[in-house]
Amino acid sequence: MILLDGKIISEQVKVEIAQEVENIKKQGGKVPHLVAILVGHDGGSETYVANKEKSCTQVGFKSTVLRFEDTVTEAKLLYEINLLNNNPDVDGFIVQMPLPKHISEQKITEAIDPKKDVDGFHPLNVGRMTIGMPAYISATPDGIIELLRRYKIETSGKHCVVLGRSNIVGRPISNLLSLKGYPGDCTVTVCHSRTKNIPEITRTADILIVALGQAEYVTADMVKEGAVVIDVGINRIKSDATKSGWKLLGDVKFDEVAPKCSYITPVPGGVGLLTIVSLLKNTLKAAKKEIYG
Ligand code: GUN
Repeated sequence: MILLDGKIISEQVKVEIAQEVENIKKQGGKVPHLVAILVGHDGGSETYVANKEKSCTQVGFKSTVLRFEDTVTEAKLLYEINLLNNNPDVDGFIVQMPLPKHISEQKITEAIDPKKDVDGFHPLNVGRMTIGMPAYISATPDGIIELLRRYKIETSGKHCVVLGRSNIVGRPISNLLSLKGYPGDCTVTVCHSRTKNIPEITRTADILIVALGQAEYVTADMVKEGAVVIDVGINRIKSDATKSGWKLLGDVKFDEVAPKCSYITPVPGGVGLLTIVSLLKNTLKAAKKEIYG
């Protein structure tokens, strides 16, 4: 069993990005600039944005956070987005989700210029991705692709089973892995809450991707010997055994599943660590105008 190590791979990619930024600087170019819009004081969002800022600094990007109270109007946010769309100093920006209930996340997402949509949430980027055109790919599916690529895992002709059909993980990763080329050319089955006989299906998976948000859902009897298992779940569970009073569990019962696998991601330390790296990769692509010219 080989561990798909998100820490090692994310550090590697960050070093590569930092080197590119050094080259841009040497040639007198502008360093990539990522802006994050943060509305309100949600603890999770604050942590995400702080980590994004830290990672930007590590690779030499410029990073700005625009903060708004959770009473901000949708019109004001749309106005700010328009300013960012037209600001040549800003290469890419994200609006941290979730947003307060009075603001339409869909309207906000669609207002972002697809050329600067480094989250890859705009329908144009989602559509381009599904037909194999150059596009910003959102962080989690891109992180999974990066892991498969870096560990040179064979995907052609493999049966990939995806548990979960969310717009941010299940749907995009099932699309990407069915595309022509590497990593792709898989036969993909998507399972969801209405799927019958899930264990029967997962037992036929060469590659099993789990993005359900249910702690330790996948048990050893659901996994084929030699499978590649990618666990996207991050579930906070109360625990008396830790100082903080909680622990992180994946969607896979790691201890019993791992011995059966050829490769498996740990939680924490797997796909999660690659998501910020994907955002950095997209911001670099935006600065270099790689996707839209
Ligand atoms: N909230 C949780 N994850 C994300 C993300 O990747 N992007 C944005 N914009 N908000 C999030």
